Amino acid sequence: SMEKPNIVTCTAPVNIAVIKYWGKRNEELILPINSSLSVTLHQDQLKTTTSVATSRSFQEDRIWLNGKEEDISHPRLQSCLREIRRLARKRRNNVDPGLDSTGLSHKVHICSVNNFPTAAGLASSAAGFACLVYTLARVFGVEGELSVIARQGSGSACRSMYGGFVQWIMGQQSGGKDSLAQQVEPETHWPELRILVLVASAERKHVGSTSGMQTSVQTSCLLKHRAESVVPGRMEEMNEAVRRRDFTAFAELTMKDSNQFHATCLDTYPPIFYLNSVSHQVIHLVHRYNQHYGETRVAYTFDAGPNAVIFTLQQHVPEFFQAVQHFFPPESNGGQFVKGLPVKHATLS
Ligand code: PMV
Repeated sequence: SMEKPNIVTCTAPVNIAVIKYWGKRNEELILPINSSLSVTLHQDQLKTTTSVATSRSFQEDRIWLNGKEEDISHPRLQSCLREIRRLARKRRNNVDPGLDSTGLSHKVHICSVNNFPTAAGLASSAAGFACLVYTLARVFGVEGELSVIARQGSGSACRSMYGGFVQWIMGQQSGGKDSLAQQVEPETHWPELRILVLVASAERKHVGSTSGMQTSVQTSCLLKHRAESVVPGRMEEMNEAVRRRDFTAFAELTMKDSNQFHATCLDTYPPIFYLNSVSHQVIHLVHRYNQHYGETRVAYTFDAGPNAVIFTLQQHVPEFFQAVQHFFPPESNGGQFVKGLPVKHATLS
């Protein structure tokens, strides 16, 4: 007989790391070699929307990403499903061992869509796994520290479980229980902060973060130095810059950390190139812009792709926007910027 499925829909935003995560000490549990810190965007901007349906009549777990069915046996997807069901079972046993638990054996159908290009180095896996874990938790009535589960889907996903400024503490334990995300400051903390995404290319990235990190950990001594001797101090400085809303300190640490991350990619053997010539022009533009005003008004950061994420303060947005248009003039017949550089505005709250 047909049974009406139970459906839950949630959204999760992208987060942008200002102190980068790159490198795992445990591949299976996704335990990082250094802590990281990020800014979570507003729900309405770059986000994933996930619906999870459960029904007694479903024969197997299935998943669709942006309308296309994908392989449910993906190991990290399986980790998240297994962990949520384990916690749901545990909770149900604690609350009432006699409770009917048939819902737990129900199969799920998962539908997930991004409102931005997938795998273009725009942290799509972060929003995706955060949203998946959050939605599954709602479906199965699981509460508690969900960032530990999201982490096992994609490392950076643990940071999208919170809004505002978020740190992922690397943790010490081998089991990974203490490798979790914490909100440093809420989204309301710094209302003037603005984020612009300069899309240099919407193509899929050439080297995925998983294999890129593996090669970097195996071959880059700069990465080892970074994780052990640079990031711990930077995490403290960044926490402090965010707490004090010190844009100059925040911006300079952000740019230096992005540059060091891409330097470790070059130090990887064979080297990994995520930036393209448009990215390099954006870096150049930002430094010239700041030099022109004699103060640091704008910062860039790049993840595993060529698209620039720009941080600035509200009062500088129109002016910097003009500088971008000057450097990358709009085409006469489109409304687009040449070299495929549309600008997306994003805010924090
Ligand atoms: O979580 P992953 O495997 O997509 O790795 C993300 C790595 C970076 O985006 C480059 C840095 C970060 O901290 O988000």
